[in-house]
Amino acid sequence: MEVLLLTVLLSVAAAEFAQDLAHVEAFIEQKRYVLKKKYRPLYHISAPVGWLNSPAGFAYFKRRYHIFYQYHPYNGAWGTMHWGQAISDNLIDWVHYPPAVLPKDFYDRHGCLAGTAVMHNNYLTLFYTGVVQTQNQTIQTQNIAISGDGIIFQKYLYNPVIRQYPANVTDFRNPKVWRFRNKWFMILGSATENRQGQLILFSSPDMFHWKYNRTLARSYGDMGYMWENPDLFEVDGQHVLILSVQGIQAESYRFRNLYQTGYVVGNFNYHSLRFENLEVSMATFTELDYGHDFYAAHTLQAYDGRRLLIAWLGMWESELVESRDGWASMMTLIREVRLSPQGRLLMTPIKEMVDLRTEILEDAWYSPGEAFHAGSKSFELIVNASSVLYDAAVTFEWHGERQYAIAYSAERGRITVDRGGIDGIRKADWSPTGHMHWRIFVDSSSIEVFCGDGEVVFSSRIYPKRGIQIRIGGEMQLHVTQYKIRRSVGYDEKLRQYLKHNFVNRIKY
Ligand SMILES: *[C@@H]1O[C@H](CO)[C@@H](O)[C@H](O)[C@H]1NC(C)=O
Ligand SMILES: *[C@@H]1O[C@H](CO)[C@@H](O)[C@H](O)[C@H]1NC(C)=O
Ligand SMILES: *[C@@H]1O[C@H](CO)[C@@H](O)[C@H](O)[C@H]1NC(C)=O
Ligand SMILES: *[C@@H]1O[C@H](CO)[C@@H](O)[C@H](O)[C@H]1NC(C)=O
Repeated sequence: MEVLLLTVLLSVAAAEFAQDLAHVEAFIEQKRYVLKKKYRPLYHISAPVGWLNSPAGFAYFKRRYHIFYQYHPYNGAWGTMHWGQAISDNLIDWVHYPPAVLPKDFYDRHGCLAGTAVMHNNYLTLFYTGVVQTQNQTIQTQNIAISGDGIIFQKYLYNPVIRQYPANVTDFRNPKVWRFRNKWFMILGSATENRQGQLILFSSPDMFHWKYNRTLARSYGDMGYMWENPDLFEVDGQHVLILSVQGIQAESYRFRNLYQTGYVVGNFNYHSLRFENLEVSMATFTELDYGHDFYAAHTLQAYDGRRLLIAWLGMWESELVESRDGWASMMTLIREVRLSPQGRLLMTPIKEMVDLRTEILEDAWYSPGEAFHAGSKSFELIVNASSVLYDAAVTFEWHGERQYAIAYSAERGRITVDRGGIDGIRKADWSPTGHMHWRIFVDSSSIEVFCGDGEVVFSSRIYPKRGIQIRIGGEMQLHVTQYKIRRSVGYDEKLRQYLKHNFVNRIKY
C-alpha cells in the first residue's frame, strides 16, 4: 500500500526529469570521445567527463554495488553539484551510468550535495542536501530521491523532508542515514552560529518524517569551524565516527592538509542517543590517511559483512593538472576497514583487487641504489624486507629526477613520503613488527601506499611524465613484486546505445 502510493507520487515528476537527463547525457556523449587520456586512471573511478569530488552514496542494491559521487559534468572545475553514478557487480569492474540526481528543483537548484544511499522495501533511496543561494543567504535542506531499478531516480514529491534549521545551526549538510531496529537515524555535519563545527542528530519512524534530537558532538574551539561528511558505523565491536573537518591548525606533522578527514572510536548509546567514551578532540581525532589528497570518507557494510570505505582522492584548492583537459579528480581504491586491538583503524585494499592483476612485470631482490623501469602507467608494487631494523626507501623518478619518495626510518619508527615542491612532505609514526611490507598502487596520476596491515596509508596525486623509474634506497635489500593492472572502469556500449535511444536522441541541436 505504502509502496503503491509512492509509485504514483513519483510518476508525476518523471517526464521533466527525462528531458533534463537527456541534456546531460547528450553532453557526455559528445565529449567522451575527445577527452585527453594522458592522466586518466584505468582502475580508479573518475567522472566520464567533467569534475568529480566526494563520494555521495555507496549502496548494495539488487545484487549490485552503486557508488554515487559529487559531479559537475560540464567542465573540469567544481560547479553546481549533481550526483554521478557508477555500478559494479564485483566491486572492481565499474560501469558509468547516467547521473542520479540533477539540481533542477526550487529546493536544490544550486546543488545536490552528498548524503546517503540506502536500500529499503526494494527501493534505493537517496538522501541529499539541496542548496539554494539567495542574494544574502544560502539555504540548505535535506531531500530524498527514490528508484525502483537503482538507475533512474525520481525526487520525492514532498521534498524537502527537513527544511527547518534547528536552533544554533548555520549550515547542515551530508545526511548519513541508517536504520537501527525500527527507527531511522540521520546525522549531519554542521556549524553553530558562532562557527564551531558540530554533529547533529535527527530520528524518524519511517524515513520521511524527521524530528531533530540533539547535538551529538561539537568543537570546543580547536576542532574547526565546520564539520562535514559524517559517518557512524560499528566495526569489531566498537563505534567509529568519521568526520571531515575544516579549520584545524596543523600540529607538527599532523593535520598538514588544508582540511582533515579523521575518526574517533567509542560507543553510541541508542537508548540515550549519546556517545559514551567518545569525544572529538585534538587528542582523540586521528587522520584516516596521511597523504596529500584524501577527503570525505564514506563507508558501506558489504553483502558479506565487511566494512568498506571509499573517499575522494583529492583536496580542496589543490591544483589539478587534468582539469584543463575537461575532467578532474578520482576516487580512492575501495578499502576494507578493521579496528586493531589498540583501537587503530586499519585500511587495506579490498581482497578483490588481486583479480585486476594481469602480468608480473618484476619479481626480484634489489639492493640500495638499484633501479628498474616501471614499464606501465598502472601497476601494483609489493615491497618486502625481511627485517624492520634498517631503513628502507623506494623513490619514483621521471625526467631523471626524484619526484616521489617513500622512506621508513627504523630508528624513529616513522614513515615519510615526499612529493616534492613546497609542502611535499607527509609523515606518520609506524613501527612494524616482524617484517616490513608495503603495497603501492599507481594509476596514471595517483599513488596509494598501504603500510603493513594498513596501519598507515598515504594517498596522493602525482603527474608522471614519460616513464617512471623505480629506485631502491635505504640500508637493506628489498624484495619487489610488480603487477600490471588492467582497466576496470569504463562504459558499457550496449547501455550507451540504450541511453542514446531513450535520452540523447530527444535532444535536437
Ligand atoms: C535578504 O534580503 C532581502 C531583500 O533585500 C530582505 O528582505 C531579507 O530580510 C534579507 N534576509 C536576511 C536573512 O538578511
Ligand atoms: C551555540 O552553540 C555554541 C556551542 O555550543 C555556544 O557557545 C553558543 O552560545 C550557542 N549560541 C546560542 C545562540 O545558543
Ligand atoms: C528523539 O526525537 C524523537 C522525536 O522528537 C523523540 O520521539 C525521541 O524520544 C527522541 N529521543 C531521545 C532519546 O531524546
Ligand atoms: C610480502 O609480504 C606479504 C605480507 O607479509 C606477504 O603476504 C607476501 O607473500 C610477501 N611477498 C613476498 C614475495 O615475499
